[in-house]
Amino acid sequence: ENTINASIVLFGATGDLAHRKLFPALFQLYQKGQLQENFAVVGVSRKDFAHEEFQKIVAEAVETHSEADDHDALKSFSSHFYYLKMDVTDFKSYHDLENLLNQLDRDYHTGGNRMYYLAMAPQFFGTIPGFLKSEGITDTPGWHRIVIEKPFGRNLETATELNEKIQESFDEDDIYRIDHYLGKEMVQNIQVIRFGNAIFESIWNNKYIDSVQITSSETLGVEDRAAYYEKSGALLDMVQNHMLQMLMLVAMEPPGKLDTKHIRDEKVKVLRSLRFYNEEEIHENVVRGQYAEGSLNGSSVPGYLDEENVAAGSKTETFVAAKLFIDNFRWDGVPFYIRTGKRMKTKSTEIVIQFKQGPMALYRANNVKHPPNLLRIHIQPDEGLSLSLNAKPHGDNMNLLPIDMSFCNNCQNEVNSPEAYEKLISDSLLGNATYFTRWDEVALSWEFIDSISNAWSKENQVSPARYPSGSMGPKEADELLEKDGFTWWDPS
Ligand code: BG6
Repeated sequence: ENTINASIVLFGATGDLAHRKLFPALFQLYQKGQLQENFAVVGVSRKDFAHEEFQKIVAEAVETHSEADDHDALKSFSSHFYYLKMDVTDFKSYHDLENLLNQLDRDYHTGGNRMYYLAMAPQFFGTIPGFLKSEGITDTPGWHRIVIEKPFGRNLETATELNEKIQESFDEDDIYRIDHYLGKEMVQNIQVIRFGNAIFESIWNNKYIDSVQITSSETLGVEDRAAYYEKSGALLDMVQNHMLQMLMLVAMEPPGKLDTKHIRDEKVKVLRSLRFYNEEEIHENVVRGQYAEGSLNGSSVPGYLDEENVAAGSKTETFVAAKLFIDNFRWDGVPFYIRTGKRMKTKSTEIVIQFKQGPMALYRANNVKHPPNLLRIHIQPDEGLSLSLNAKPHGDNMNLLPIDMSFCNNCQNEVNSPEAYEKLISDSLLGNATYFTRWDEVALSWEFIDSISNAWSKENQVSPARYPSGSMGPKEADELLEKDGFTWWDPS
């Protein structure tokens, strides 16, 4: 019943994202039967390709970037792909698109449903929707939705301009702003873990929780993306979107209902309660780092400043750690520590809830400090949950021994981004916007991020603290927690 009839126009069809994530995700939806006969994909870019060439590229990309090896299925899947060379800034190009789409509507019985997926340079995010509307492409009787990759603006001002432009052509309900972390299995699981378990929900507040940590570390460096990354840095690349999204899901109030509006309403309220810092507080509570050379998995890697296309003396941060507060009834006084960075020791995303120590005087002999109870939500590469408790060692005296109860949802060492894309594409085709970011969320997150980037850009820019590649970040990030009597819980 979830079969989809639609054409998908993919702007940026020769790009990295299309190859690594989007084609494999679409193929999965095909294998699962959500896409069957009545769909077509139009790949758009500036290059020249014949349809057949493009179909081959698609099939190869799926083979390379997923485990797919069913050649017949790949062949029939890729036969649904068409290619169009377009200059997206020229209205005439859109007439070719319209002709092609009209023909595909007839051939594939799409009902005129159209999804426009913008996976290309962000400077065209505003241009394309305008032409789609002015050239009549959005006039067919079916639904019309636009999916937009990040970055959604560079700050509140540019994001607002972009949003106003898109809203001239699409209603908010038809705008799907992607944050691929929201498609990750365990990110979606946060709400179930919280609201589906009485033992957690009843203690999910400042009476019992001492602190929350969210770490998303990567081993990759900037790779070949310096042109983009030099302007974004980790703050815009990871914190504005993925990190804040996870924070919202951990901190939000239970929604009245599990529908799109209620869930997004509750998420937005978290951002509204986020404490804004003045400049001085930003220097105290937000750490900016940049990787220096170091060693990863036994081989030495260059520092950020020696990477290709990075400006001499660049102050772009590749690491951010911050202590945040959510000033509401539930979270009053509980620090939320977040950190993310490139060229760190491991590729891992984890949320750790650290519970307060109970009245433990009974077991405090010899001044030994016992480990706190931790609930770890493993987002990737392992997907699961673990709970650290204290118990008595077998046969020994009444000592405490830390034990771990863990549940593994999927413990293959595979990062699940393609799967995240599969979920999000499926949702957008089915019209479910729950795990996409609403405009008010985006606006508030920019407002908060702007306060940090502004503080950093003053006085010849705050220089990032160096950390060796292969470490867990600069010592300033450790000190941020030590001041409060905490330490980071590295991925277990
Ligand atoms: C992207 C960032 O949004 O997320 C990249 O632009 C980053 O810089 C990536 O590497 C991380 O995603 P994942 O799914 O691999 O954790």
